[in-house]
Amino acid sequence: MCGIIGIASNKSVTANIIQSLKRLEYRGYDSAGIATIVNGNIDEKKCTGRVDNLEKILFKNPSNGFLGIGHVRWATHGAASQINAHPHSSEEVSVVHNGIIENSDELKKNLEKKGYKFKSQTDTEVITFLLTDFLKDFNLINAINKTLEKLNGSFALGIIFKKYNDIVVGARRGSPLAVGYGPEENYLGSDSYALKSMTNKITYLDDGDVCILTNNKVEFYNSKNKKVNKEILMLSDDKNIAEKGDYKDFMSKEINEQNITAKTCIKEYVDQLRKEINLYNFPVKPEEIKKIVLIGCGTAYHSCIAAKYWFEEFTNISIEIDVASEFRYRKIKFHKKNLYVFVSQSGETADTLAALDLCKKNNMKTCSIVNVVESSIARSSDFVLPIHAGPEIGVASTKAFIGQMLVLYILSIKISEIRKDINKAEYTKKINELKNLPDLIKKTLKFQDKIQVIAKDFLKAKGAIFLGRGLSFPIALEGALKLKELSYLHAEGYPAGEMKHGPLALIEEGLPVVILAPKDRYYEKTISNMQEVIARGGKVILITNEYNNVISENVRSTLKIPNTDDHLTPFLMTVPLQLLAYHVASLKNCNIDKPRNLAKSVTVE
Ligand code: AGP
Ligand code: GLU
Repeated sequence: MCGIIGIASNKSVTANIIQSLKRLEYRGYDSAGIATIVNGNIDEKKCTGRVDNLEKILFKNPSNGFLGIGHVRWATHGAASQINAHPHSSEEVSVVHNGIIENSDELKKNLEKKGYKFKSQTDTEVITFLLTDFLKDFNLINAINKTLEKLNGSFALGIIFKKYNDIVVGARRGSPLAVGYGPEENYLGSDSYALKSMTNKITYLDDGDVCILTNNKVEFYNSKNKKVNKEILMLSDDKNIAEKGDYKDFMSKEINEQNITAKTCIKEYVDQLRKEINLYNFPVKPEEIKKIVLIGCGTAYHSCIAAKYWFEEFTNISIEIDVASEFRYRKIKFHKKNLYVFVSQSGETADTLAALDLCKKNNMKTCSIVNVVESSIARSSDFVLPIHAGPEIGVASTKAFIGQMLVLYILSIKISEIRKDINKAEYTKKINELKNLPDLIKKTLKFQDKIQVIAKDFLKAKGAIFLGRGLSFPIALEGALKLKELSYLHAEGYPAGEMKHGPLALIEEGLPVVILAPKDRYYEKTISNMQEVIARGGKVILITNEYNNVISENVRSTLKIPNTDDHLTPFLMTVPLQLLAYHVASLKNCNIDKPRNLAKSVTVE
């Protein structure tokens, strides 16, 4: 993870570096730092905690160089201390790094033998000393290349030099990096969002690329060290989309705008006039697909589980799902008639990207479902289905989950129609039902007050359990993940039928258990499982439909989501669980948008 920024300008860069680092904080927030060249020397300032702390240091003790690099960290090697914060500098160079240097121990030993004294426990500092060492004998480009050749693992780097004091160097392998073009200054950043407050002219580096920025020029070299020209993209001018507005935090904004997320996404894919789903240039003929493999991590993986149920229900295709960190190392039997679908909000998740690369190396057809369309995963896959959710800033994913599920749902009905696995009437019915979904989602947002009261029950609890069957199972997993992430309360999501095989032992007097029991074909079974929980003292929060009047006396609270087609209930079940996690975390005074130990974009393994 981590966020990096670099600016080469003809005026002081500190204010813009700080501003960009604040936009990058979603990627890491355990420490922050900046390095500029002041009076011909590298001036490094860093601290633990948020960018605000760094800003205070700079206020007391300004650092007004005309070029510089900045960093927000999500530690992989070494604690979140000031000494481990980036940049890591020697007399000659200063480096910010996003990624992991896998052979850092071995490199460190060799450098120590040469007399280099390491200050930090990070893997990054080896880059600083390797460069310093190569610069003794080689020119700039050769020293950079020799350094990069030595590194195993993944990196996006921003580097400044004492001797070459008008350039910022960027390099990328595995981790994302973009260049931005401004008026008499140029920028380097982990993503376009960081740069958007300064420019909307962006170039994305490809794997293996190196770039050299001055205030009026940018040069690119590819992995073969050949000078190359790269395309400049004009990004849409949505600078203000990612503002909190009147909301207390981004997450409440993102939860509350999910009806709009759904509306936008449906509008992009569904033509309600023609009763058709627009899906052009799909990379494979749906009729010929043998198997669909759905891959993602965390919340994105949960959307894949939901999709498995939809695809299996509507099509005759066999479906496999996998978490990317497992898929990438398994001995997969690839088949050219399989379709590999990668789901990711950020489009930068290292494991998902590696799983995609593996498929590409095996000449498989790939499709990605992403929120960030300029991301590495989107750019690497054969076909992209954007979720159109707009920037998601809260580290815990909410509206992107709704968007991912929607695209997968829409894809499943379109593929089933092309294959004639469902008939035209069913297809049209499904399209019609989608029309009402945004309003139904809006109705579930009204649970807010009731959930605020329910949340109090979770404050003294040791943990919580979320149970569901069928399409409610992935939602139970997602509900538990949201609660864990936001409130740091231990939570388990389980298929309700699995309880008796072990987790039932966890139930004790007062343990909150959220039961997802819409009136679908699993209803009676789930209610029986609920009774087993009640019999053992569990405090049940039941989420069911409006047309369900059979409510058990011993249920602590009941939430009734609007009635809809069974296949759409996961969308409506999701919202109350997000609100629950939000309010429990709020009552516990947790940092809602930036939960401890996490980061938005997981670009390390
Ligand atoms: C979601 O709340 C999590 N923070 C996390 O599980 C996330 O979904 C996962 O890291 C995948 O991210 P991606 O969608 O950007 O690939
Ligand atoms: N490995 C570096 C560190 O721990 C960078 C971490 C990252 O990119 O997540 O400092």
